[in-house]
Amino acid sequence: MAKTVTFKDDSTGKTFKYPVLSGTTGPDVVDIRKFYAETDMFTYDPGYTSTGSCESKITYIDGDKGVLLHRGYPIEDLAENCNFAEVQYLLLNGELPNAKEKVKFERDITLHTMLHEQFHNFYSGFRRDAHPMAIMCGVVGALSAFYHDSLDITNPEHRRISSYRLIAKMPTIAAWAYKYSLGQPFIYPRNDLGYAENFLYTMFATPCEDYEVNPILAKAMDRILILHADHEQNASTSTVRLAGSSGANPFACIAAGIASLWGPAHGGANEAVLNMLREIGDVKRIPEFVKRAKSKDDSFRLMGFGHRVYKNYDPRARIMARTCSEVLKELKIKNSPLLDIAMELERIALEDEYFIEKKLYPNVDFYSGIIFEAMGIPASMFTALFALARTTGWIAQWREMIEDPQQKIGRPRQLYTGKTKRKFVPLKSRK
Ligand code: ACO
Repeated sequence: MAKTVTFKDDSTGKTFKYPVLSGTTGPDVVDIRKFYAETDMFTYDPGYTSTGSCESKITYIDGDKGVLLHRGYPIEDLAENCNFAEVQYLLLNGELPNAKEKVKFERDITLHTMLHEQFHNFYSGFRRDAHPMAIMCGVVGALSAFYHDSLDITNPEHRRISSYRLIAKMPTIAAWAYKYSLGQPFIYPRNDLGYAENFLYTMFATPCEDYEVNPILAKAMDRILILHADHEQNASTSTVRLAGSSGANPFACIAAGIASLWGPAHGGANEAVLNMLREIGDVKRIPEFVKRAKSKDDSFRLMGFGHRVYKNYDPRARIMARTCSEVLKELKIKNSPLLDIAMELERIALEDEYFIEKKLYPNVDFYSGIIFEAMGIPASMFTALFALARTTGWIAQWREMIEDPQQKIGRPRQLYTGKTKRKFVPLKSRK
């Protein structure tokens, strides 16, 4: 028998029945699409802690068990056995590519890595000290002014080309934001390099001498990109979907996602973790900061700890911690005071009653900042890197939404607690 849930309005004694929908795994959902029409009431869920906003086949998270699957494949298997291009293909198409499909996909992406030459003018319009995320929001939004031939969202071929353009150009856009801040010439991408390798090349090469990308660092960067590729209906992905639900073009939607990612409660956390570790400065001071994080009178939180969905160890954080050790070893960094502080902080927090009770574990951002810093990437670029990795997830989710026949413009309602209708007061009579 189909499962239903009955809602009883105690004030009138009326009952209403709602169907329960089951996914392939995860909690069932109550289908309340007719709730307002039938009850004359809205549901109330600020922060959407209990609300499923869409149907999706892309990513599944079991936050209690610490499980993350992309199209059914555990993140650990993908990070261990695939390169980022394979994961991109998987997210976009639902299946891993075979050898031929992989070569073609990588080649197709490579052909779009250059930016229109006029973008030089966009960059020079920014102050030198502009945050890379400010530049990313602006430049990605501006892509829609250049690539008119891929803006028809009802045309599958336009959707494919704009997706490829976004994925391919994002590393160039991010690297050029960095180059601009240094006052160095922009470096053009090289089509013989892989995705992560190309990004490191455009970040660190100069026209003055040959630059060889360290293959171990390129591999580590590739894995970091995999770990950030998609994460179900988080704030920035929901922003992309909401922006796209009105029919806005994909470049504009991804610019909206970048803006949402920027916040310290989301993608900005990796930068905030590094700043926090620097502020702690010494393992001896950890108890003082842990105490502050627990205090109700202090707004300080342990950055890189806690997650809306994971109430267990974030599986990405484990892989990130391992990658961190590999990178430090490759770079022959024997002593990393920041890593020492991070590891001790993690140990202390995981034994602390407050963090145990609230199920606060390290998240993906906890170790990524230390890796980036070791690679020579400045803290201001951390969130930009996250944005370039997440672009594939955003696009896969955007495309899934556009291709969903049930898709409607997103339009939440509210609990209004403002003034009710009142008499207008002319200016001369206002006190
Ligand atoms: N340090 C100290 N206390 C914390 C922390 C933390 N990092 N995170 C949550 N708490 C406490 C809250 O104070 C709250 O306590 P209370 O119940 O006594 O009021 C309780 O744990 C629940 O926290 P909420 O903020 O309600 O949880 P929510 O799901 O809304 O927030 C969030 C999740 C934003 C990630 C939060 O844990 C946080 O701010 N963490 C630090 C920032 C961070 O690392 N963000 C990256 C997230 S991962 C990503 O976006 C890639």
